[in-house]
Order: sequence, then C-alpha cells, then structure tokens
Amino acid sequence: MKEIKIPDVKIDMNGINLQFEHGNFFRKFKVPSSLDCICTSFFVDVVPDIVHLVKYCKMLLKPSGIWINNGPLYYHNTSKNALHLTDDQLLLLLEEDFTILEHSLNSYKYTKIDSVNSVEFNRCLWFVVTPKNINNV
Ligand SMILES: C[S@@+](CC[C@H](N)C(=O)[O-])C[C@H]1O[C@@H](n2cnc3c(N)ncnc32)[C@H](O)[C@@H]1O
Repeated sequence: MKEIKIPDVKIDMNGINLQFEHGNFFRKFKVPSSLDCICTSFFVDVVPDIVHLVKYCKMLLKPSGIWINNGPLYYHNTSKNALHLTDDQLLLLLEEDFTILEHSLNSYKYTKIDSVNSVEFNRCLWFVVTPKNINNV
C-alpha cells in the first residue's frame, strides 16, 4: 500500500479560458497559434500518423505554448498502416519544431475500466516541449 496525496485546491478561474471538448482532435481544433497548452496522455500511439500530430500541435500552439505528453509510443494502434517512431526518432522529429524542455522514459501502470488488473507500460515517453520561433530557436 502506498500513500498518495491529492491537492485540495480551489482553482481561481478568473481570466482562465478552460474548455472541454469531445470529438476528433484534428477537427475540433483548427485555429493556428490558438492554444496555450496541449496535454496528450496515452494518445500518440493511437493516432495513425505521429508526424502529422507533431506538425499539427506545432501549428495549434501559441509561440509561448507548451505540449505535455505522457504515454507509450507503440501499443494501441498496431495497424500496419500506422506510422510509429522510437523515442529517439520522435525526439529528433520534435527538435525540428520544438525546444525540448523535459523528457524521460518511465514505467506506468494503466488500469482498464472493466478490470481490476492493470497493464504495465515499460517505455512511456514523457516530454514537455515549446515551439521553436524567432525568439527561442
Ligand atoms: C488510450 S486512450 C487514452 C485516454 C486518456 N487520455 C487516458 O490517458 O487515459 C486513447 C483515447 O484517444 C481517443 N482518440 C483517438 N483518436 C482521437 C482523435 N483523433 N481525437 C480525439 N481523441 C481520439 C480514443 O477514443 C481514446 O479515448
């Protein structure tokens, strides 16, 4: 048994425009340089084309925006038509458009909704990146 602490903080939402949308990410969000932050959790292995996702996130983020990711790179979409990269390849691709602020490979347990058992993911890539632009190339 391991203790975890969950902060009990009431967030001051004044001036914060936090939206919840459901639907296809690529259809819901289309406006260039419009997002402050993109968080992807166990998602990059789901999309059919990781290169498109990287370029798309760069397009959507404001110059000062950040993209935070965690999750495996190869698990859910094992279709032979899907494009997957290794962690080294993805970091190289990210470096074309982003400054990498943090990255690490970690193990996580992922619990299935209909099961008490969890799956261990040994190589989850955590990264925090910000778009490269004129001021921070
Ligand atoms: C492995 S689950 C991860 C769910 C959650 N983010 C988490 O960390 O537990 C991947 C999710 O991505 C969703 N998904 C797949 N393609 C998507 C897309 N183009 N736009 C939005 N969501 C998508 C799937 O429906 C699924 O709920």
